[in-house]
Amino acid sequence: MTSDLKGQTGPALQGRVIAVTGASKGIGLSIAQLLTAHGAQVIGGARDVGGGKVPGAEFCSLDVTDEASVDAFAARCRAAGADALVNNAGVGTFRPVEEITPEDYRRVMDTNVLGTLLTTRALIGHFRNRGGGQVVNVTSDVSARTFATGALYTASKYAQRAVTQALAHEGHAYGLRVTEVRPGMVDTFFGDTRQGEDYKAAWLRPGDVAGAVLYALSAPAHVRIDEILLHPVVQDVAY
Ligand SMILES: NC(=O)c1ccc[n+]([C@@H]2O[C@H](COP(=O)([O-])OP(=O)(O)OC[C@H]3O[C@@H](n4cnc5c(N)ncnc54)[C@H](OP(=O)(O)O)[C@@H]3O)[C@@H](O)[C@H]2O)c1
Repeated sequence: MTSDLKGQTGPALQGRVIAVTGASKGIGLSIAQLLTAHGAQVIGGARDVGGGKVPGAEFCSLDVTDEASVDAFAARCRAAGADALVNNAGVGTFRPVEEITPEDYRRVMDTNVLGTLLTTRALIGHFRNRGGGQVVNVTSDVSARTFATGALYTASKYAQRAVTQALAHEGHAYGLRVTEVRPGMVDTFFGDTRQGEDYKAAWLRPGDVAGAVLYALSAPAHVRIDEILLHPVVQDVAY
């Protein structure tokens, strides 16, 4: 009997070069750590890369809302032979509709939506020339449902989901594999909070989300993981 586990043993990401945005803390830092531990060459980006130290990974200054900054980051990724991009950088502001300011709007939409468009735009031509590539977008469980005070954040995540799905359609012809990873509540610094606070004790850990990203990136070449939705068990079931 032959085994169909070929390519699924050993360091899952050996020889892969993977760009990760928002890699300085929270989920992105954990993604950088886990992918590196599985043999990938990781190029991580964030505005403040001072805190993000992962042995074996390279960190570059990156503001996903700034075209010149994205282009410099993408040039480094192309030179290194990147074959995957993880769009993880993101911010959130939670206010009722009547309190949302244009500044809130620009900060959240520019980071979560424009940022995803700019980084992806800067790298997919390179992926196409290589005959494939992978894009993993860390959106949210609220990329398809909303709640009070969630108007702006969920609008940005619905939009990021739309960008993800349109990209999957566009890239299908040349073998681009696109995945949306949709976590529920995760214990990070998100929304200007602190990591490790008591009220987050039962939430997902950043490593749980990193595991989902690893799963998508280490799928055999003939498998495309379209979407992963994961929650801590304390969170309500909500489709
Ligand atoms: N925590 C949750 O409960 C949760 C749930 C579902 C989805 N998510 C999503 O998961 C992603 C990561 O969030 P997190 O929870 O890990 O938050 P976090 O701990 O606040 O980390 C956010 C990361 O994004 C980076 N970032 C923010 N603005 C950026 C910009 N303009 N350019 C480049 N990098 C930028 C930050 O670094 P700098 O500030 O140094 O740039 C940091 O590395 C986000 O897309 C978020 O929407 C989070």
